[in-house]
Amino acid sequence: MAVVVSMINMKGGVGKSTLTFNLAWRSAWKENLRVLAVDLDPQANLSQYFLGASNYLKLLDNNHKTVVEIFEQFSSPNSTTGAPTLVKPSEVIRGLRKWNDGSLLDLVPSRLELSWTLKNPTEKSQLLPQFLAKVQGNYDLILIDCAPTESILTLSAYRSSRFVFVPVRPEFLATIGLPLLARSLDEFRLMHQDQEIQMGGIIFNDMRRTGTPPEQRQSKKDVTALAKTHSWHVFKSVAHHSDSYPTGSREGTPIFHTSYARDYVIGEFHKVADEFLVKIGLK
Ligand SMILES: Nc1ncnc2c1ncn2[C@@H]1O[C@H](COP(=O)(O)OP(=O)(O)OP(=O)(O)O)[C@@H](O)[C@H]1O
Ligand SMILES: [Mg+2]
Repeated sequence: MAVVVSMINMKGGVGKSTLTFNLAWRSAWKENLRVLAVDLDPQANLSQYFLGASNYLKLLDNNHKTVVEIFEQFSSPNSTTGAPTLVKPSEVIRGLRKWNDGSLLDLVPSRLELSWTLKNPTEKSQLLPQFLAKVQGNYDLILIDCAPTESILTLSAYRSSRFVFVPVRPEFLATIGLPLLARSLDEFRLMHQDQEIQMGGIIFNDMRRTGTPPEQRQSKKDVTALAKTHSWHVFKSVAHHSDSYPTGSREGTPIFHTSYARDYVIGEFHKVADEFLVKIGLK
């Protein structure tokens, strides 16, 4: 059964999608795991990172089903029988890559209309965990990329997950979203005492490797101190700033296949990925 992991931070632009994208690729490609990535953000950045912009538009043009249909299964009953239209996993999951050794990389894409779900959220948070339970046996790792706000989507990510990881960009105000996250996780645990959900840790991302500005160093210290008060693990490995991450996202390539990505950037990402996999018991 797959280990389900959510990448979460209420703060935007910290690297949730970039890390999800690269961790998913790395886990399938180097660790021979069967990986499903789930795009749980109406911005659909993760879908575009995986597919590239033009293939993503083609997917929408072809009316490929998305995470929207998982949340809206019961809002469009069959027009003749009136029965709810249960979505089939094969209609939603887009295969990206298969390797000969059985490892694979699949995606549940998203689209902007996911924001409808937020307008009428009643009783929908169990639909994602229900859907994932159906396919959990087909994968070793399911990675969920969350949107940067607290909503029904966050709740459904928590309800699906065994672990949450928090990418943090060390900068001014980096600590602001973390107490909110701690609170929402505590609340969730109190309300769902039958579910085990664990904080996997904080991953620093997009920090300057050399000539680190004082505010980045200070921010890293503040976040580390805050993490300690919650007994949260802080990753030893850091994914430093590199222009290869945005380049790779535009190309639709993971960091280790991105043109001109430096070896030390790739090497450093492998370390982050190893620490991640050890933490969730897959290495
Ligand atoms: N280590 C890095 N070095 C350089 N640029 C990075 C790095 N990580 C992420 N970026 C860039 O920062 C931007 C935001 O990253 P990303 O989309 O992963 O953040 P996010 O947390 O998912 O954002 P959102 O909250 O909007 O979903 C992107 O342009 C991405 O390419
Ligand atoms: Mg994102």
